[in-house]
Amino acid sequence: MNPLRRLGSRRASLLTLLAVGALASPAAATAASAAPDAVRASTLGAQAAQSGRYFGTAVAAGRLGDGTYTGILDREFNSVTPENEMKWDTTERSRGSFNFGPGDQIVNRAAAHGQRMRGHTLVWHSQLPSWVSSIRDANTLRSVMNNHITQVMNHYKGRIYAWDVVNEAFADGGSGQQRSSVFRDVLGTGFIEEAFRTARSADPAAKLCYNDYSIENWSDAKTQGVYRMVRDFKSRGVPIDCVGFQSHFGTGGPPSSFQTTLSNFAALGVDVQITELDIAQASSAAYANTVRACMNVARCTGITVWGIRDSDSWRSGENPLLFDRNGNKKAAYQSTLTALGGA
Ligand code: XIL
Repeated sequence: MNPLRRLGSRRASLLTLLAVGALASPAAATAASAAPDAVRASTLGAQAAQSGRYFGTAVAAGRLGDGTYTGILDREFNSVTPENEMKWDTTERSRGSFNFGPGDQIVNRAAAHGQRMRGHTLVWHSQLPSWVSSIRDANTLRSVMNNHITQVMNHYKGRIYAWDVVNEAFADGGSGQQRSSVFRDVLGTGFIEEAFRTARSADPAAKLCYNDYSIENWSDAKTQGVYRMVRDFKSRGVPIDCVGFQSHFGTGGPPSSFQTTLSNFAALGVDVQITELDIAQASSAAYANTVRACMNVARCTGITVWGIRDSDSWRSGENPLLFDRNGNKKAAYQSTLTALGGA
């Protein structure tokens, strides 16, 4: 590809200026050959923004008093996902009584720092209060689910870039079907469609995502099951805008088909996002491969890592993140930054 096209017009005109200068003096010739490095950004968020993408992290409200944590957060990331604060067991611990305090803390702080927000998550079988999981009557559960979606989305209306409307609804293993949950068992498999339709009416400006793990390998039954659902939704006009690939990887990083998976989903007419990235032992190559898969797919709009320092991770024993427990950049940080540069 023409390197000037790849760099975009702003960088291309800078190169042109430097190239003109190069005709005049040998010193400028050195500057010209260094130009691609000179215009590279020095943080993850800024580098991702050069290709119109975001680079985000999960944030825990309980860590916002830690200056090392917030220092890295504001320097490196331009998108935020609340790690737990928007889950049902926090936002509606008892029926009809909503608690937005911890979520608001994260949303207000992100807004003050110009970071976009991913909403996580509205309908999920986990971190679900027992008053919901014990409902056996379909009409009751339907109105409880729709009320929850509506109240939470109304509260955050206009402040959320994308919502994980339904999380982890498909089964592991070879079935390719939805997993058993109170929602599927009481409402039937149509609960996902119902949730997305309710979400669209609540906040028509938010992008609506389906989010899951172990859907990164194209040939897996679970990936195929989610793909068939998204294809069906798009063909029938059920509102869905994006698919989130959690991407909780082992030491080897993404499956070799990951880019194929992302581009096949994108071809259905949805955005794709990497939503909860962490990789056991965080090898540089595994991170670079993951980032490259996204960079190579036009509709891959952003990447979120699931925490800042290894000590912040839900998998802290596996050191899966980009910063060590002292907040220092790890080797994978550099390979990630380089891969975001599109090289
Ligand atoms: C995890 C959080 O990181 C933990 O703090 C919490 O105890 C459990 O949930 N898939 C998801 C995330 O969608 O919400 C989960 O986050 C990780 C797996």
